[in-house]
Amino acid sequence: MHVVAVVTQKGGSGKSTLSVGLAMAAMQRSERVALIEADAQGTISKWRERRENPYPRVERVADPADIELVISRLQGDGIWLAIIDTAATNNVLATRAIACADLCLIPARPSAADIEAAIPTLIAIRRLDRRFAFVLNQTPTRGARLSEAAASLSSLGVLALPFIGQRNDHQDALGAGLGVTEFAPEGKASEEILALWGWISERLIVESNDHGQAALKTAC
Ligand SMILES: Nc1ncnc2c1ncn2[C@@H]1O[C@H](COP(=O)(O)OP(=O)(O)OP(=O)(O)O)[C@@H](O)[C@H]1O
Ligand SMILES: [Mg+2]
Repeated sequence: MHVVAVVTQKGGSGKSTLSVGLAMAAMQRSERVALIEADAQGTISKWRERRENPYPRVERVADPADIELVISRLQGDGIWLAIIDTAATNNVLATRAIACADLCLIPARPSAADIEAAIPTLIAIRRLDRRFAFVLNQTPTRGARLSEAAASLSSLGVLALPFIGQRNDHQDALGAGLGVTEFAPEGKASEEILALWGWISERLIVESNDHGQAALKTAC
């Protein structure tokens, strides 16, 4: 099973939106996808309540010690991808999520404030020797600020592609209990999320070939 943690202490950068969007994009291949909500704010559970389709499975975790148990249970139940949505703080729960992840995604809007706020998260990820990629989210369609932000993030580490634009479909999909790929399958937001999932899934496959699943799990 692949585990992806979406982490940054900066609030509102798109952790929950990307977690949902990517889980639903991955579900186009298989329903054996789960979301782990490690944020008391409950954005994912509230989204799940608005949803009629029983998939993806959503697990809530409040105690850091429970993350490993939940991951083992999901693995035992045949889940092949778990995406952990974390809170906007570097708490013990977020740190455990990072430790358990095969890949950490750090969303950032193209602003100095978001990029600066990602640094403590990046330090925690490096300390735990986890793989990571930045995701530029809520980007304008054009502008110098975007290329400056992309250059800053690229200097700090890997930047995932494509960037995810600022699009109403993301907000409307979340409100309707849907992923953006279900809400507006032909839209630009859906196209970007599917392409981002393609980028991420390639990294996950390369990583499991490099290290083997057993080695990955011992880190958690
Ligand atoms: N690409 C996007 N386009 C448009 N709106 C977006 C996009 N990404 C996120 N949003 C909106 O930005 C707001 C914050 O997003 P979200 O709740 O996913 O951030 P978060 O990092 O999970 O926040 P928190 O730190 O509070 O958990 C929401 O209203 C969401 O709908
Ligand atoms: Mg959130």
